[in-house]
Amino acid sequence: MSVILGINTFHAGASAAVIIDGEPVVALAEERLNRVKYFAGFPKLSILRCLEIAGLTFADVNAAAVGRDSSANLHKKLEFALRNPSKLLNFARMRSKSKTFDDLKSLIASECDIDKEKLNFKTYNIEHHLAHTASAYFASGWEKCAGITIDGSGDFVSCLLSDCEGADIKPLQRIFVPHSLGTLYTAVCQFIGYPKYGDEGKVMGLAPLGTDVYSEFFEKILKQTSKGFELNHEYFLPFGANQGMEINDAGEMIVHRLYSDLFVKELGEPREKYTEITQRDKDVAFGLQRVFEKYYMRLLNLLHEKVPSERVSMAGGCALNSVANGKALIETPFRETCIQPAAGDDGLALGAALYVSNSLLKEGKRWTMENSYLGDEYSDTVVKTELDKYKIAYKKLEREELIDATTDEIKNGNVIGWFQGRMEWGPRALGNRSILAHPGFPNMKDILNARIKHREWFRPFAPSVLVERQTDIFEQDYPSPFMLHVYKIKPEWRERLSAINHVDDTGRLQTVARNENPLYYDLIKKFETKTGIPVILNTSFNENEPIVCQPFEAIECFLRTKMDVLVIGSFFCKKAGKD
Ligand SMILES: [Fe+2]
Repeated sequence: MSVILGINTFHAGASAAVIIDGEPVVALAEERLNRVKYFAGFPKLSILRCLEIAGLTFADVNAAAVGRDSSANLHKKLEFALRNPSKLLNFARMRSKSKTFDDLKSLIASECDIDKEKLNFKTYNIEHHLAHTASAYFASGWEKCAGITIDGSGDFVSCLLSDCEGADIKPLQRIFVPHSLGTLYTAVCQFIGYPKYGDEGKVMGLAPLGTDVYSEFFEKILKQTSKGFELNHEYFLPFGANQGMEINDAGEMIVHRLYSDLFVKELGEPREKYTEITQRDKDVAFGLQRVFEKYYMRLLNLLHEKVPSERVSMAGGCALNSVANGKALIETPFRETCIQPAAGDDGLALGAALYVSNSLLKEGKRWTMENSYLGDEYSDTVVKTELDKYKIAYKKLEREELIDATTDEIKNGNVIGWFQGRMEWGPRALGNRSILAHPGFPNMKDILNARIKHREWFRPFAPSVLVERQTDIFEQDYPSPFMLHVYKIKPEWRERLSAINHVDDTGRLQTVARNENPLYYDLIKKFETKTGIPVILNTSFNENEPIVCQPFEAIECFLRTKMDVLVIGSFFCKKAGKD
């Protein structure tokens, strides 16, 4: 038996994954266990929990891989340090710190309180963007495709184009920091009052509310080059070797100010957080998304010239830009995308392990990711104990009764906490840790926001749709099982799906096939039988916190919010006074 432990550590989205004989069996982000969003410290809890779920101990592990390699692209790092003498000391400090992280065995031993002598595994440092590429390509099941990764930065790179074939990923071109589409996006998010790490999705949702006012400005801050693009340094502060990011003692990501005074001079004062969003802010978001898409497509088109395939595997934080992903299938020659759900840095744990299995150890197993359910699972016995502890009234129902009762509640406009099976891998709730509601019930978006989610008013909620009904409702036919594409909604469905129809008549859909999630599929199917609508509104099961992982977190969220019903395992719980 070959056991590979993959980790992402001291980078946003700390995580762990275990693959056995080339097949991933469990993968977890640390934030779900320690409840610190985007946790960027060491993934101790997820390593231990992954081993426990896989039924293994450290003694069973043959190889450990981390998605970082401080010696990768060293020449570029040195070049940078020599060009920026004021940063030399900082560079030397970071380098010695990085070297500590590179001694993976010592790190795991000390962080997990294990005697290093008892760890018999080999260790591998996999360059950040190779691990990203592997996380997508080695989940595709394809024998050949083009590969692209785009993010803020990792191992001094923000974009990698690759030729993926068989067990090998051949890097073709790197874009080095400070030039970075991810950093550009984060900088503009900061400027319009979304300064937190991970706020980019909010601004993507704001963009369609704006108009095309700032295209000239955005054309100035990026320059087209033969490799793709460069940032105009006059509009940004010098980022430093850490690309403007830092990790604080609590393991949280801190983003320093990224935009320059010239940026402010030309666009006006930045928006303070929590203040009113003006038309200027909406227009800036529009301009940002538009220029991002332009260069996203440019990079994809350049890649296609180098690797003329119709298939592309994509990863890196920017590959979570589902609006750009939807358009890529129309505006580039690529016709199929493989993007695994943890496309951001949380996916590095899986990617590093898959790279070792496929490319280095040549284990010969080609894995196709069929669903995202690689996380924790709890039996009815455990759930019942928790419900009793909280003195929650429940009915235990058979599968068909459970589906019938739940769809009745959704049909009547109630809001359901839906906690089933194994937790999703990646940032999206995909029908196992989800809050469900009627996609066309009057004012459902406002109801959800007022009662539970408290999200920005402009952000859309997402639809889960039966895969075979996708083209009845959406204008594009390529399936999106991990909610990573935004497509136009056909005119005849827009009003019937008012709660998930965004201002530009689009939806960030999850297509649901029965083999991917039979229970969730059957639930939507039953809802369709009752209403004629093959769609359920699906948002993540949380309230301003990482998505719930354990039953008690779901129960506490149910009790603390104005959720009407909790369906957890076989148990159906309805709040008193809701009958
Ligand atoms: Fe990354």
